[in-house]
Amino acid sequence: MTPLLELRHVSKAYGDPADPLHALDDISFRVERGEFVCMVGPSGGGKSTLLRLIAGLLRPTAGEILLDGQPVREPSPRVGIVFQNVNLMPWRTVLDNVALPLELAGVPRPQRHKVALELLDLMGLAGFARRYPRQLSGGMQQRAAIARTLAQDPDLLLLDEPFGALDAITREYLNRELLRIHHLRKQTIFMVTHAIGEAVFLADRVLVLSARPGTIRREIPIPLPHPRGEETLSDPTYLALTREVRAAIGDSRELGF
Ligand SMILES: Nc1ncnc2c1ncn2[C@@H]1O[C@H](COP(=O)(O)OP(=O)(O)OP(=O)(O)O)[C@@H](O)[C@H]1O
Ligand SMILES: [Mg+2]
Repeated sequence: MTPLLELRHVSKAYGDPADPLHALDDISFRVERGEFVCMVGPSGGGKSTLLRLIAGLLRPTAGEILLDGQPVREPSPRVGIVFQNVNLMPWRTVLDNVALPLELAGVPRPQRHKVALELLDLMGLAGFARRYPRQLSGGMQQRAAIARTLAQDPDLLLLDEPFGALDAITREYLNRELLRIHHLRKQTIFMVTHAIGEAVFLADRVLVLSARPGTIRREIPIPLPHPRGEETLSDPTYLALTREVRAAIGDSRELGF
């Protein structure tokens, strides 16, 4: 069967072709429908670049990216991306930010507000629908940005360090919520994170990217059973897998990071 996402020998260089900055080099991998894949790797290794390529916001210098077997040439509503830096619209309420993809799709106001409220509730923000982004903490803004992308109901959800700014307890809570949403909606998720424990807790598979130019160093399957919860964090298999991922990142740092 055709995978939902396939990258074939993808490279990306920025800047002047005479003096290029090689961000990514010869990246190939697949993501199957319904899979949850996490990518970890050193800062500056090209992870955000990779997400922008998959979302069709950038074009690769070489290689190809296929969504459902079709080349990605431009952004598509089937692919939702939550950026590393939250980009809510400051002049819209939280509710109207979350409802934006539905508004763009022509969904009538009462209906799009209903969906947006459900998603805000899902992200623990039900009481903040009528507030403006500046009235929310950084972590709450991040959750609103995730709700907005879910409103688009994408086949593929791309998350760039979505919980980076959050405290450990909120982060663990949202990790469990994200797994719940993943199972509920059967969504395919590709997520970048710096947190090794988070990657192992969430993913079916962890990809380890090297330092720049980013190449895939390791692909580590995570055969932990579902549902995963607090007890998973003390499971010996979980602990062994986090050590394995940490070791793989360590290797890449020795290679010049
Ligand atoms: N628009 C751009 N123009 C030129 N160079 C860029 C651009 N965006 C990123 N880069 C460079 O590409 C490399 C990879 O950047 P990228 O943001 O993809 O890394 P990252 O893995 O997401 O890092 P972090 O973990 O810190 O977010 C970096 O050296 C960066 O300076
Ligand atoms: Mg980044």
